[in-house]
Amino acid sequence: MSRGKPLPHDAAPLHVTGQARYVDDIPVPQDTLHLAFGLSTLAHGDITAMDLSAVRAAPGVVAVLEGFDPMPDCSPSVHDEPLLAMGQVHYVGQPLFLVVAESHLAARRAARLGRIEYRERPAILTVDEALAAGSRFEAGPVIWQRGEMAALEAAPHRLDGRMEVGGQEHFYLEGQVALALPQEGGDMVIHSSTQHPTEVQHKVAHALGVPMHAVRVEVRRMGGGFGGKESQGNALAIAAALAARATGRACKMRYDRDDDMTITGKRHDLRIEYRVGYDDAGRILGLDMRHLFRCGWAQDLSLPVADRAMLHADNAYWLPAVRIESHRLRTHTQSATAYRGFGGPQGMIGIERVMDHIAHALGRDPLEVRRANFYRAAGHAPPPPPQAGAAEGAVGADLTSRGAEGVEHPAPRPPAGDAQTTPYHMPVEDFVGHELVAALEQSADYAARRAAIAAWNRDSPILKRGIALTPVKFGISFTLTWLNQAGALVHVYQDGSVHLNHGGTEMGQGLFQKVAQVAAEVFAIDILQVKITATDTGKVPNTSATAASSGSDLNGMAVKAACETLRARIGAVISARAGGAEAVFAGGRVRAGAENLSFAEAAALAYQARVSLSATGFYSTPKISWDRLRGQGRPFLYFAYGAAVTEVVIDTLTGENRILRTDILHDTGTSLNPALDIGQIEGGYVQGAGWLTTEELVWDKAGRLRTHAPSTYKIPACSDRPRDFRVALWNRPNPEDTVGRSKAVGEPPFMLGISAFMALSDAVAACGTRYPELDAPATPERVLAAVARHRHG
Ligand code: MTE
Ligand code: MOS
Repeated sequence: MSRGKPLPHDAAPLHVTGQARYVDDIPVPQDTLHLAFGLSTLAHGDITAMDLSAVRAAPGVVAVLEGFDPMPDCSPSVHDEPLLAMGQVHYVGQPLFLVVAESHLAARRAARLGRIEYRERPAILTVDEALAAGSRFEAGPVIWQRGEMAALEAAPHRLDGRMEVGGQEHFYLEGQVALALPQEGGDMVIHSSTQHPTEVQHKVAHALGVPMHAVRVEVRRMGGGFGGKESQGNALAIAAALAARATGRACKMRYDRDDDMTITGKRHDLRIEYRVGYDDAGRILGLDMRHLFRCGWAQDLSLPVADRAMLHADNAYWLPAVRIESHRLRTHTQSATAYRGFGGPQGMIGIERVMDHIAHALGRDPLEVRRANFYRAAGHAPPPPPQAGAAEGAVGADLTSRGAEGVEHPAPRPPAGDAQTTPYHMPVEDFVGHELVAALEQSADYAARRAAIAAWNRDSPILKRGIALTPVKFGISFTLTWLNQAGALVHVYQDGSVHLNHGGTEMGQGLFQKVAQVAAEVFAIDILQVKITATDTGKVPNTSATAASSGSDLNGMAVKAACETLRARIGAVISARAGGAEAVFAGGRVRAGAENLSFAEAAALAYQARVSLSATGFYSTPKISWDRLRGQGRPFLYFAYGAAVTEVVIDTLTGENRILRTDILHDTGTSLNPALDIGQIEGGYVQGAGWLTTEELVWDKAGRLRTHAPSTYKIPACSDRPRDFRVALWNRPNPEDTVGRSKAVGEPPFMLGISAFMALSDAVAACGTRYPELDAPATPERVLAAVARHRHG
């Protein structure tokens, strides 16, 4: 059986030998042209003059494009992102004009030669400036409330606090890139490094003024996406397509790293404010939480990102009375976008901070307080509710993007046994936090190590250690319900080899291999008989972004359906030859009565019997429904769980710190591929810890991003991984009927990195008596400042 085996990534040999083809490696026609944007150097103002004569005269320049009529739009949501600035600039790095040149370098050099004059306007850069100016994407904050805040006021204990949480650069190893190849009759083929081929197809078609059928988008793989290639690749694909049409030549656009970091959106930073009332055991009675998101200049996916933060403001904890207020602020900076967790991490860190703060105030072990607040382990789940009706209010052209808005009417849900409900009224029926955390507490030896660390700290004046255990409960499904669908196309050739295609994209996460394992299992053939092929809008149409960790859930099911159709057809042919005996597929063979054939022989017989050996498959997620305006419904099919224990040490003289040991127990359902899942868990954890420790984005007072290269922006290196890293899978079947009873694993482990941040806070707390109130990222500078606050009052 193929599914469930720890097979390596299908392209691993190609990755390590350099043979894996990324967009920039695809052989191109000899006369291919290269593009670069000229960028704004001002955060906010009017363009009063643009002299591009030096750009046009620069060596190798073929054309300079500075205006289109109509101006193409790159936005995944509300048509507020013109490809090139139209009279006004909104951030430093905004594209102003497009250079088309004979080489990549010539285009980039020329792009620097534009002479732009501006009339400067005041730039809104910070949360406070945006609040004061009322600069936001909606009329006011989004507020969800369940229960009465009187519970907070009447609580025996109350505290409040706030924290600043930084953003994060995606730092995919392969930068943004697109290649446009003009075809006969005005058609266009696009190779794009995108998580969302259908969106690129749609945006390019719109920009060219042609139907979607005239544009085909192909994606073999990305060198990482992490959410940064859901919408941010649109501009490059549109620019390449327009230049290709204008010149009749192939056009390629690739951002150099500095440009990539300067132009594209990142994870949203935010301020979190909280007020909480609790009892002597640390149980929360009422919580008032405020999110202040800095969204940047355009809307992009900010609304659903901020929604998902609200949806994870509870994390694993029952909140009897809760109010969540979310502000989506418009600032003159890069347009913040999707990033692994899609707002979930920002929501979760708030409540984890509250847990830590309460524990400190009560002088209790933070794990004890967390456990006291966990959702109740629900008893028997109720019968499944009726399925929701079709989506209404689906208007506008951007139906395939998470930024699209629509109202869905939640299906009526029967009362859910004894399950407690989330702040958005969804019963938590599958909570495994109690058992999972107890198992991790044991295997990580949490209690003994906590005591040992306290003793060690008493004798260690300079170095201090800290430890923390934090849980994760992450909702799986797109909150825009109609995106929860996928298609597949599978061919069986007469030699028994299989051509596999589906709507998901490969960005390193191993989706293609997992889905191939599902196909191989249905046919009971060796994985090597299954050819993994590039995502292609001409093979499977109207796909959703590979995002929300839903790639294997959705595409795995669609592929399973297509393969089962084909298996039934082949089976029927063999069964008929065997006088009606049932055909059984096992061990690479098809057996029925006296027939005992290889899969290849069976496929050949089906072909000769004139049976179609090509099938599509389709899947749409059941049970879900969501009303985002009211903040009510069942946005998720299920939750993925996990927990991590991190131990750190800090140097109180310098603020330097490192992770000494990390233990993780993560819920993968019945893992489709434990090797790939462990890779996702390790990578997610390290990336999450990076977000909260070393990765710091710094804008200056003029709105210029000063950290736009690896020299100034520090992502975790191999040497920053935990010295002692122990990852185990909570490998139990998903109670929901997912592919092979597996669970999504792409994003949830990211939030395990929060334990590193809380461990640092714990180490700082060992330096004094007050609560450290660390902001994120906890860089050495911040850790040192926090220690100093302790030591000098
Ligand atoms: N893993 C690798 N190696 N590279 C990536 O770009 N992206 C993450 C996660 N894991 C990513 C990754 C994000 S943001 C998501 S949503 C999921 O993978 C998407 O893939 P999946 O749905 O197949 O899990
Ligand atoms: Mo992932 S942020 O959903 O692409």
